[in-house]
Amino acid sequence: MTDTFATVTTHPLEPLSPLEIAQASAIVKREQNLTSSARFVYIELHEPSKEALKQPLSDRQAFIVLRDRGAQATFEAVVSLTADSVVSYTEIADAQPPITLEEFLQCEEVIKADPRWQEAMIKRGVTDFSLAMVDKWASGHTMDEDNPGGRRLARPLTFVRSEAQENGYARPVENLVVTVDMDTMEVVDVADTGVVPIPQSPGNYLPGFYERPGNVPEFTQQRAPMKTIDITQPDGPSFTVDGHYVEWANWRLRVGFTPREGLVLHEVNYVDRGTERPVIHRASLSEMYVPYGDPGDSQWNKNVFDEGEYGLGVLANSLQLGCDCLGEIHYFDAYVNDQDGQPIELPNAICMHEEDYSIGWKHTDFRDNLGQVRRNRRLVVSFFATVGNYDYGFYWHLYLDGSIEFEIKLTGIISTGAIEPGQIPEFGTLVAPGLYGPHHQHFFSVRLDMKVDGERNNLYELEAEAVPAGPENPHGNAWRQTKRQLTTESEAQRVADPLKARTWLIANADKKTKLGGHIGYKIEPSGAVALPLAQPGSQQARRGGFATKHLWATPYADRERYAAGEYVAQNPGHDGLVAYTAQDRSIDGADLVIWPTIAAHHVVRPEDWPVMPVSHVSLHLKPTGFFDGNPMLDLAPEVPKTDGHCC
Ligand code: CU
Repeated sequence: MTDTFATVTTHPLEPLSPLEIAQASAIVKREQNLTSSARFVYIELHEPSKEALKQPLSDRQAFIVLRDRGAQATFEAVVSLTADSVVSYTEIADAQPPITLEEFLQCEEVIKADPRWQEAMIKRGVTDFSLAMVDKWASGHTMDEDNPGGRRLARPLTFVRSEAQENGYARPVENLVVTVDMDTMEVVDVADTGVVPIPQSPGNYLPGFYERPGNVPEFTQQRAPMKTIDITQPDGPSFTVDGHYVEWANWRLRVGFTPREGLVLHEVNYVDRGTERPVIHRASLSEMYVPYGDPGDSQWNKNVFDEGEYGLGVLANSLQLGCDCLGEIHYFDAYVNDQDGQPIELPNAICMHEEDYSIGWKHTDFRDNLGQVRRNRRLVVSFFATVGNYDYGFYWHLYLDGSIEFEIKLTGIISTGAIEPGQIPEFGTLVAPGLYGPHHQHFFSVRLDMKVDGERNNLYELEAEAVPAGPENPHGNAWRQTKRQLTTESEAQRVADPLKARTWLIANADKKTKLGGHIGYKIEPSGAVALPLAQPGSQQARRGGFATKHLWATPYADRERYAAGEYVAQNPGHDGLVAYTAQDRSIDGADLVIWPTIAAHHVVRPEDWPVMPVSHVSLHLKPTGFFDGNPMLDLAPEVPKTDGHCC
């Protein structure tokens, strides 16, 4: 239910309440004598380890990341809310935490006041600076010999609206890159590498703006509204909620939320004929990376880690019934922190509802026309984050057939560039005169701390193999499924091969099915299986190492939670999965964590302008030997609307 400031948390995986966020920052301030130059980046639950979760909760802790602007240093703190004291307070060398909301707002003001930036704008015919938008862009790799430890740098880009509320992304200021030190709030550099005319065609999507003549595309009036679709559940939804604990159909799970990852699912279990069997211990998005493939001066350095450099939880939308979500919705509020360490409420940040999902199973015996049909449903738990121009929806789907899907919806506004009128971009798609969307890719790393029917799991690669013609295949039709166990971290770095129907099976290491098979869940990569295209040695390749594989696997370790590393901003790369798996640990019978990568290869379409129709990419986890047979066999027959008799 909706948290209030009076919430008393009970379960050790309940997210921090607003009171606990305020208490956590107060403890650190008091015990470390912090001044106002210490800024709170993240305050989140310090999640108990799996071992600790087996015992009754004795100590509730918060994990805090701070940036001390004066000291130009980054700190981590663990505080005990139970003991009202600091457990640890550590400076983290060469670490830049994500850019905070406070920093974004301040640096826009500072840039607009800079005479070099103003001169560049005047050169382009812009004199009303109030219409300029300075957008947060991380700086890419800037922590090196010249900048050891790192000045805290961002490289925002500029756009210009033609009037308030108008879509400024239609008017990018090309070849203007500003570098800001966010600790000192100084403009370090303004690089202006040549004027390209600011595109003039409006690309608006707001009602009242887009109907004006000359908009791209041109629709001078709204279409007639369609008939109402109402989704009603007169008896209410089939789930129950207690705090963040959810029961729906045979599924049991806990909903979590962190400022960095946003929505997290904990302890996803399935009740199979009375026995609660674990499937996933913790499921989250561990990173997302968007490298651009355009070498232009203000384009090439667009290589951003939307989770590790900005944080998806802190950018979560408040969702609205009838707009973002239809039907019988349960909302969870989320709480993050401001930079003074006070709680910020994000009302309705997580939406949960159930959806009809068409046919679950069906058969008609053609001899006697005796038919049976059952409908499938899914529980949908989701949130949306706005990261500058782009908007991302992250949807977990749990189905009645025991399968799990993670779907990402990409929408919002493409990142744009300006080109000389009449020219065609080589590394992008023209969407309006003088305006283009550069090629880019989105890579999402999903972290699945697996627990398939128990703690020890194994990983296998499955693929189809045609049998050569010969005695074993006299008719030439034979093919088999090969199964190969991946036993080490290096062996488990895999790319997809859809032509061989390659999939990966996570199976319990200790038990077998009644028929002697594996008890498992299979990962099926979706159709989007692109690989990165940056050259080896480039910062894009180094920093986005996780994206070079569609699957990684590691044995569980507490601090291994992020595919590109904990402190991604400005770093040279080689962190995260690349570093974790360099140990080449065994994953045989391990407490297994798997890290599938989902790719969205984005060559912009004209239809993506001025606001993108949702593009979907997803990952499927299907029970494979987890059940003895169809787990939906016990569903009650459907009742037809026509005569009230069973289908
Ligand atoms: Cu895109």
